[in-house]
Order: sequence, then C-alpha cells, then structure tokens
Amino acid sequence: MRVYCAKNYEEASTLAADLIAAQILLKPDSVLGLATGSTPIGAYQRLIAKYEAGELDLSQVKTMNLDEYRGLDSENPNGYRYFMNHQLFDHVNIKIENTNVPDGKKDPAQACGEYDAILERIGGIDLQLLGLGHNGHIGFNEPAEEFSKTTHCVDLSESTIEANARFFDSEDQVPRQAYTMGIQSIMQAKMILIMACGADKKEIVKKAFWGPICPQVPASVLQLHNNVILVGDEACLG
Ligand code: F6R
Repeated sequence: MRVYCAKNYEEASTLAADLIAAQILLKPDSVLGLATGSTPIGAYQRLIAKYEAGELDLSQVKTMNLDEYRGLDSENPNGYRYFMNHQLFDHVNIKIENTNVPDGKKDPAQACGEYDAILERIGGIDLQLLGLGHNGHIGFNEPAEEFSKTTHCVDLSESTIEANARFFDSEDQVPRQAYTMGIQSIMQAKMILIMACGADKKEIVKKAFWGPICPQVPASVLQLHNNVILVGDEACLG
C-alpha cells in the first residue's frame, strides 16, 4: 500500500483527482469505480475543472458506482444516482449511458443480479475510488461475520444511518437498506484509491490499515490487495 499524507482536504482532493486523471490519460476507456459521500466531492470538483480546462476527456470512460439506497429513484435528491449526476456526470463529457448505479427501485434480486451482469460485461474495474465509513465500511459493506462477495442488499448499521442523516431532513428518512457492490468485486479492481480525511477518521484508518484483517472492519481486507493507494490529510494520517 502506498500512503500519501496531504496537508489538508483540499490537497488530498487535488492528489486524488490527479491520480484519477492520470488513469484516464493512460487508458481513455477506463472503467472507474466511483463513490459518493462527502469525501470525494473535492476530487470530483477538480476533475470537472480539468475537463473545463481542456485537460481531460471522459468521452470513453465508463463508471460503476458502489452503492444506492434501496427504494430511492434516480430523481430523489438523496439518492446516489442523483448525487453522481449533479456532482460529476452533468458537468463533464461522459456519456450518461456509460455510467452505472444500482437501481434502488428494483427488488434486491433483480437490482443486484443486473448490476453484477453489468460489471461482468464491462470487464471489471480499472480504478476503484473509495471513501471510508466510521465503522470501517467500504461501499455499504457493513461490519459482518464474513466478507461479502457480489452485489447484495444490506441492512444499514445504526452508525451509518446516523452518519448519513446529515444529507436528509431527519434520521427517520434515511433508508434502512441499500444495495452495494460486494467486497470481492471491489477487491477485483486493478487499482484502489481510498480517501480518508479529518480527525474523525483517524481511529478507523489505524484499525483498517494497521490492525488485524477481519470482516468486522471491512476495509481491513484492502491490506490484501496489491495496488492500494491511501490518500489522506494530516488530521487523519498525521
Ligand atoms: C458511498 C460509500 C460509503 C462512503 C463512506 C464515507 O458511496 O460507498 O462507503 O464512502 O460512508 O462517507 P463520507 O465520505 O461521507 O465520510
């Protein structure tokens, strides 16, 4: 694992965007695995700036998002399809038909089965961008007794519901379930770029990357991947 400790969130975002842009320059038809949440927003803003400056062409890029809340449709402002369109896709020259997010409106078997079929058809992920949950989740793979494999429906943990309530009007409105790509699918990405910023992520970063590998800390499995880059800031990694 390579660890980059940036000064602050702004610099970490610049670094992450540079790494994603480099991937696209090296392989214009890259498949990017993408994340939502607060952490990647700065990197997405910088990718948009690069596109606007004529430095980045996403016309051949394909994307697979990690997860979606069960029950939310693409027009729901709290949904992850909406998030991706507004934070990135609508502002660059990616073809929207080349972007994929699990369909929150379908039942679990259909939504998850179809998503795995897309992943297989698309030929796997070149670069997977990840954030890190306070409980060590990646995607919505919550602490569990075993590592998950493919896309599946999860019950969100209380701590995740609490953490994500900030995006909703109230905690009651946070969906209790989500569809998420499995740990095995994430681990099959050729390269993984995980971002963790802020003092509130310090403890979990220590556990995930320097502690025992166990499904109770899902991100710890990344220690077994041979091409992981951790980008964080001083508050988190210092
Ligand atoms: C989002 C996702 C989650 C987040 C994690 C961190 O697609 O997969 O695992 O990356 O919950 O969220 P933030 O960045 O909001 O702290």
